[in-house]
Parts: sequence; C-alpha cells; structure tokens
Amino acid sequence: MNNLLEAKSLSKFFKEGNEEIKAVNNIDFSIQENEKIVIYGRSGSGKSTLLNLLSGLDTFSDGEISYKNYKYDNQHKQLTQLRKESMGFVYQFHHLLKEFTSIENVALGSMILGENKKRSLEKASDILDKFGLSERLNHFPSQLSGGEKQRVAMARALINKPDLIFLDEPTGNLDKDTSKEVISYLNQLADEFKSSIIVATHDPEFRNFSDKILTMDSGVFV
Ligand SMILES: Nc1ncnc2c1ncn2[C@@H]1O[C@H](COP(=O)(O)OP(=O)(O)O)[C@@H](O)[C@H]1O
Ligand SMILES: [Mg+2]
Repeated sequence: MNNLLEAKSLSKFFKEGNEEIKAVNNIDFSIQENEKIVIYGRSGSGKSTLLNLLSGLDTFSDGEISYKNYKYDNQHKQLTQLRKESMGFVYQFHHLLKEFTSIENVALGSMILGENKKRSLEKASDILDKFGLSERLNHFPSQLSGGEKQRVAMARALINKPDLIFLDEPTGNLDKDTSKEVISYLNQLADEFKSSIIVATHDPEFRNFSDKILTMDSGVFV
C-alpha cells in the first residue's frame, strides 16, 4: 500500500501574548490510499489545526508534509489546485449556499473544476441519489433536515471523486440516529469511490467506522 499523505515532525504554534500554544506538537502521521482514519480528542486538543495543516489550508511552523510525490511548500499557492482536484471537505456546519438548491450546491463543486453546467447537474443528481436524496434535489437548504443538509454537504465534497476527504466534526450537530445514518452513507460512498478519509470528531458513532483510531490531546497523539 502507498502512502497518500504523510507528515513528519509536524508542528503548529500560535502566539498568544507572551505564551506559545503548541496546537500541533511534533506529530508524525500518514494515511494510505483507501484508508479511513478517525481522530478523537476533547475540544482544544488540536484536531482542527491538524486537519487544516494536512489539507494545506494553514501553514505549519515546523516539519514536512507530502501528498503523493508533492511536497507542501508551506506557501498555499500551488496547493489550491491540488485541493480542488484531489480533496473534499465537510465541516460541522454544512456551509451550503442558501440561495441554491441541493442539486445546484453539489453541481458547483464540479463546475469549479471547469465541467459544464449540464454535466455537473447530471453528476450532482447521480451522487445525491446515492445519498438517498433523489426526492430533495430541488429543495433549498432551509427546507432540509439537519441530516439531509449534511448528506448534501458530503455529496458536494464527493462529487469530484476526491482521493482524500477531510471531515471536521461532521455529525457535531446531529442526534444519535441521524448521525448513524449519515455515517453509514459516508462509509458506503467512500468505499465505492475508493476515497481515503480523515475524520476529526467527538462522536462515539464513528467507533466502528475505521480500523485506525487515533486520539489527540494537547497537540500530540496519545
Ligand atoms: N488561530 C488561532 N490562534 C490562536 N490559537 C489557536 C488558533 N487556532 C487554534 N488555536 C488553539 O490551538 C489549540 C487547538 O485548537 P483546535 O485545533 O481548534 O482544537 P480542536 O479542533 O481539537 O477543538 C487550542 O488551544 C486553540 O485555542
Ligand atoms: Mg475542532
């Protein structure tokens, strides 16, 4: 198996007045193709910071990260394209555009890669169907339940069949049963698309989601 993403001696420090917060402190991490990793940890343990570093959204203070053969230059610029083409993102709050319907929200994920509108809408319809939302294509976010909104957000993250999907507390706003349902869709679709997954969460429902569970505390894996 090949490493898809690998970080060595990775650190991120924040200055708070005279104090330095070691949000991520000298971490080694790797994920292989088609692997699912769940990162648990209390609030403030450094999960979001780690995801932001690994996805190139934030610059790191020390260490190195490589994605396939590409070494992060820590400058953001080249990473924008890599992120668009190869990565997907899902957050606690769905971040759907409220003036757009489900199918349009999802299609936008394809159109930003230059795909035409008609084909993007077809792809969006297909993937929303896989998420059990074929009856919700033309609904606006305000007309959807919390679980449905998160399924649309996941469909948007998956429309380009990314190699790697980052999810930060994706079920943080959902009740237990809805959370289970959303996780089950995510599991099926990740397997079908052979996407690797990194989830940062508090949610015990993710316990059975992956073979690899890591726990973070104070910027390190424990
Ligand atoms: N932009 C920032 N500026 C200063 N401190 C930050 C910033 N982002 C995160 N932190 C601090 O880094 C630590 C880890 O935060 P975070 O990665 O958000 O943890 P988690 O996602 O596990 O709740 C916390 O102490 C937090 O206050
Ligand atoms: Mg967080």
